[in-house]
Amino acid sequence: ERLPALLAAMPKAELHIHIEGSLEPELIFAMARRNGVSIPYASVEDLRRAYAFSNLQSFLDIYYAGASVLITEQDFFDMAWAYLEKAAADHVVHAEIFFDPQTHTARGVAMDTVIRGLHRACTQAQATLGVSASLILCFLRHLSEEEAFQTLEQALPLRDLFIGVGLDSSEVGHPPEKFARVFARCRELGLHLVAHAGEEGPPAYVWTALDLLRVERIDHGVQSTRDPALMARLAKDRIPLTVCPLSNLKLCVFPRLADHNLGALLDAGLVATVNSDDPAYFGGYMNDNFLQTFQAVNLHAAQAWQLAANSFEASFVDAPLKRAWR
Ligand code: ADE
Ligand code: ZN
Repeated sequence: ERLPALLAAMPKAELHIHIEGSLEPELIFAMARRNGVSIPYASVEDLRRAYAFSNLQSFLDIYYAGASVLITEQDFFDMAWAYLEKAAADHVVHAEIFFDPQTHTARGVAMDTVIRGLHRACTQAQATLGVSASLILCFLRHLSEEEAFQTLEQALPLRDLFIGVGLDSSEVGHPPEKFARVFARCRELGLHLVAHAGEEGPPAYVWTALDLLRVERIDHGVQSTRDPALMARLAKDRIPLTVCPLSNLKLCVFPRLADHNLGALLDAGLVATVNSDDPAYFGGYMNDNFLQTFQAVNLHAAQAWQLAANSFEASFVDAPLKRAWR
């Protein structure tokens, strides 16, 4: 069977990875021990057993608990480096990495510590793994827009170390329009703009992410198939969707991987991509997402090629490098 080999070996870009979601249980325990942070789990196995989610919020509660062991710049470096080594093994040649600074600054960790640790791993990945990597700062949508503005303010001295901003955490009840002013400011600053929308939330949230936040990509967006006019808009404007199939399975967005609508999104001509979201929690990195999804929904080599091409088209790398990759 040649398709699994093609999926594994083809060069690809990852555009939807929360770096805190790449923190494996072994690293959580190692950091808890070295930092003297206590976590309410007896062992790695005990923690892994808690990874049985019913929806987005049931995951986020455990994800934020796991992130509480990150204290030093070295912790942020080690977390990102472990991810980048796995990305390289999966033939990811470019990664745009989300991070959630508010999860850390709320515990007294300095913005500088977070960003410098992550950025040092990105620099080393380019030099020693041949993987290019950039950072995207995400605002937590369950917090206020005022807190997002304060977070932006804290990060601006390090403006050159991240390429854009995103919007993540609890979606339903926190529509994109809650963050219209801070996204307008980020746009003025020349930052790239993305937002999670249509993961659990309605197509209306995808519309407002596009029209009020003016984002360049939609993270997830799988609920868009419920709105034909939205599907037409996404296709016409070539708005990429960063789809995360194993995440959608583990968070019960689709009952079975076989029910996933990735094939329908591609058939509709959308710039859909495959990504891992929170691989330490959802049971797989990039190639696991490709292999399991292709098997479950019966996709073929043409779609593999399309998804890889889409991942580069949807990336924020400079146009000349994009042409070289094509
Ligand atoms: N933060 C980390 N993973 C997320 C997801 N899948 N949706 C929203 N916020 C997140
Ligand atoms: Zn996500």
